[in-house]
Formats: sequence, C-alpha cells, structure tokens
Amino acid sequence: MKKIGIIGSGTMGSGIAQVAATAGCMVKLYDTQQSALNKSKDALEKILARLVQKGRIDEAEKNRIQGSISYVSSLKDLGDSDITIEAIVENLDVKQKVFAELETYLSDEAIIASNTSSLSIASIASALQKPERCIGIHFFNPAPLMKLVEVIPAVQTSKKVLDISVNTITDWKKVVAVAKDTPGFIVNRVARPFYGESLRIYEEGIADFATIDYALKSLGGFRMGPFELMDFIGNDVNYTVTETVFTAFYFDPRYKPSFTQKRLSEAGYLGRKTGKGYYDYDENGRFMSSADIERSRNAESHSSELQEQIFNRVLVMLINEAADALFLNIASAEDIDNAMTKGVNYPKGLLAWADEKGIDWCVKTLDELYDEYREDRYRCSPLLRKMNRQKTTFFN
Ligand code: NAI
Repeated sequence: MKKIGIIGSGTMGSGIAQVAATAGCMVKLYDTQQSALNKSKDALEKILARLVQKGRIDEAEKNRIQGSISYVSSLKDLGDSDITIEAIVENLDVKQKVFAELETYLSDEAIIASNTSSLSIASIASALQKPERCIGIHFFNPAPLMKLVEVIPAVQTSKKVLDISVNTITDWKKVVAVAKDTPGFIVNRVARPFYGESLRIYEEGIADFATIDYALKSLGGFRMGPFELMDFIGNDVNYTVTETVFTAFYFDPRYKPSFTQKRLSEAGYLGRKTGKGYYDYDENGRFMSSADIERSRNAESHSSELQEQIFNRVLVMLINEAADALFLNIASAEDIDNAMTKGVNYPKGLLAWADEKGIDWCVKTLDELYDEYREDRYRCSPLLRKMNRQKTTFFN
C-alpha cells in the first residue's frame, strides 16, 4: 500500500487527500495551521456523509476512507511517504524552502511533487539535493470530481519518477495528460482564447457578453459561457492566470490580458464570490436584474450570422492554440484533447473539432482574421498550415 504525504490542507490538498485515500492509499495531511487541518477534516466528514446518503458509498467505506487519512502538524511526520504532493501557497521561495526541508526526512527513493498551476517545475526542483525526484502533479478543482491530472516532468526529472507518477495517478482512476514544463502546462495555456477572444469580441462592440455566452453555449455546446465562467472562477484569479501566462511567454500577443477584466478586478467585481461581475449574483446564484433579463432576451434574438461569427472566431482561436501546443511538443494530440474534455469539460477535444470543421476551414478563418487585424495574435500555427498543404488530419 502506497504512503502518500500531502502538504497544505486547503482546497486542493484536502481534495487530493480524499482521492488518494479513496484509491486505497495511506495518507498523511500536513498543514502549518491547525485550523486548516480541522476544517479539512470537517469538510471530508460532510462530503463522505453526503456520498453515503446518495448511496455512492456505504458506511464502512466512509470509515475506511476517514481512517486512511491522518492529520499531522509536523513536516517530519511525512518522512516515510513514497510520494509527497505539495499544495501550499503559490510562492516559489516558500515552496523551495518546504521542499528542501522535506527532503532531509525522506528516503532516497521518495518522490516529491508539486500541484503548482503557474510555477516552473524546474525552478522548484532546483532547491533539492536530488532534483530528479521532483515532478509536477497538477489536479483540477474540485480534485475528487475532475478526471484530469496533468503530470509534468521537469528537465531534471528521472524517467523512473515519471513512470511511477503516471502509474500512481492512473491507479487513482484519473486520466493523465503528460505535459512539458512550460507556462500553463496544457489546460491553462490552451484555454486562454476562450476568455481572451471573447473579451476582445466584447471590447470591439461586436456583441455584449450575454450574446457571446449564448453563442458559445448554444452553438458550441459549452456548459458555461466565457463570461459566466470568468465570474465563476473569479475575475481576479482568471486575470492573474492570463497575466502570468502572458508574461511567461515573453509577451506573446496571443495571450494579451484585457483591460475590461482588469478594471472589473480592480473594482472588486470579482464575480460570484463578491455578488457582482459581468452578471449579478445572490446567495442562490445568478440574480437576474431587469437589465440582465433584457440582455439575455436580446442574446437569443440576434441573427444566426452573428452567433456563428462569434462562435467560429473563439473556436478557431482555441483550435489554433491546441495545434500550436502540439506543434511545440507540449503534449501528444490525445493528451491535448483529453486535457480539455476532462480538465475543463469542453464538449469536444479541440483537435478532433479541427478535423470536423476541416483544416482548410481553420487556416482560412485564421488568415481572414489576420488580414483584417494585422496582429500577430491571429497568426496561424505552422502545423495547421502544413497539414492543410499535405491534406492530413489530427486523428485517423
Ligand atoms: P488554499 O489557500 O486553499 O490552501 C493552502 C493551504 O496551505 C492552507 O491551508 C495553508 O495554511 C497551507 N500552507 C501555506 N503555507 C504552508 C507551509 N509552508 N507549509 C504547510 N502548509 C502551508 O490553496 P489551494 O487553492 O488549495 O492551492 C494550493 C496550490 O494548488 C497552489 O499552488 C495553487 O496554485 C494550486 N492549484 C490550485 C487550484 C485551485 O483551483 N484552487 C487548482 C490547481 C492547482
């Protein structure tokens, strides 16, 4: 039976502990704050009680899962872990210090993983005596529900550590996508145009956000529109991810953040959590003001040409991003498509979607955008262009 250590018992650490314990591992969950440990324990009790109520697990399984997790208040207690996954504050200095100390308690074979969303694994690994034992294991929130886990080997990571990590996460019944150690890994890179291009369409005055949300949901089958999703994630969090990716890519205009979202964030209109974002919310969720009702009525009444123009523009930018990730060997085509369907619930993999729309359609649509705006943001991925010449597709 594998022994798993988890550092940080916040949102992510608690979720990962539940996943590992459910899969039959012995888990030690460590946090510097006793209150965070107590909160995590109480939250798990509630989650498992609900699962019993729904008949998903029985009382014995609930007790087994709870009995598999111990809550510890010293890093030293994680010393016998086979794999330790860190989910603490997103700060390189703090992570490096914790990793360097943890390493002194561990066996030579033990693996140290980070759940970081935005730091490079190479930089975290560099704090270790044995950096080859370090790897990124990136879960999505909520960890027990989201199927995808990105596994990110750093330049220092050994093949053995990668193999053990992939096998372990697969045993935990998750879908693994192996990604290169580059900004945003797969999901947080490929998903950028969903927000960025939608914001750009709004800023140009082509449509209001209710119309853009409506077009992507009704024509694209996305569960939430981009503006609803930004409100859900939090405009502060979503803006910071965009800005981090933009900076990390040496200011590539494809990832340029938007003033609209920056101003919302500055105003404290963060979305659901503050009651106001692009839309209004109360404790029960969406609150439809009369202006909102009017807007959503309008959204449905717009011409199908406008809806299609919006949907096609956002989709082709997403496809371009996915194709470029493949072109630059960030991940395999299968992993890129799995990442978007299993990590952020896209209705279809973007590369499969490209095949369906036709590679020639993708190139033509991107070139039209480029011709209109003359911005590097709209440059077509060389891979799409080459595939169009050679008349090939991503799959089959
Ligand atoms: P959180 O704020 O809910 O929890 C962090 C926990 O770490 C807190 O309980 C805190 O007391 C503890 N902590 C802070 N410094 C510590 C230290 N030196 N030693 C031990 N414990 C310490 O944060 P959350 O949202 O769980 O995020 C954790 C990590 O996971 C971050 O690196 C974040 O980027 C990443 N992540 C977050 C996702 C999300 O949607 N929240 C998704 C995927 C990754």
